[in-house]
Amino acid sequence: MFDETNLPEDDDLEHEAITLETFVYCSRAADSIDAAEVGRIIEFSQARNVARGITGVLVFGSGVFFQWVEGPPAEVKDLISNLYHDQRHHDIVTLDRNIEKRERLYPHWEMEHVEADDIRSVLQEALETAEDAGNIAALKRILAHLASFDLPSLGRA
Ligand SMILES: Cc1cc2nc3c(=O)[nH]c(=O)nc-3n(C[C@H](O)[C@H](O)[C@H](O)COP(=O)(O)O)c2cc1C
Repeated sequence: MFDETNLPEDDDLEHEAITLETFVYCSRAADSIDAAEVGRIIEFSQARNVARGITGVLVFGSGVFFQWVEGPPAEVKDLISNLYHDQRHHDIVTLDRNIEKRERLYPHWEMEHVEADDIRSVLQEALETAEDAGNIAALKRILAHLASFDLPSLGRA
């Protein structure tokens, strides 16, 4: 029989305004990254994020990562430092980082993997509002990479 006692009574991650740090970034995946490696990153992250109270979403498409992370500031700070040392991606561009008291946007996602064939519009928008020279340069590199990635589909005569 289905045992309801194992279910969380009232999800304490939901509808509770707490102090959360948000970190949103995009980065360029290393050449070696394939679907299997993204799967391993997701699997590892889900287990680790549960333990750290981190939730969010990871988008991977055309060799580019886009990730939204939210959680306790100390934990998010640790994760950011790990991300910067991770050789599986580079050209990390911070799109947003802030600390505020609010409800979680993704209360049930330890790290949800979302497929995206084209995240160009998100990055283009980020480029239009970017002020930091380093970020502008990195976003341009990523967008140029996305453009070259699509070349074969343009068809060559
Ligand atoms: C695109 C990308 C997203 C990642 N997301 C997470 C994440 O959400 N949570 C996490 O713990 N590690 C994530 N990682 C892995 C971290 O960069 C790092 O490998 C891991 O936190 C190492 O932890 P440890 O050194 O304490 O074992 C991600 C890595 C990549 C390349």
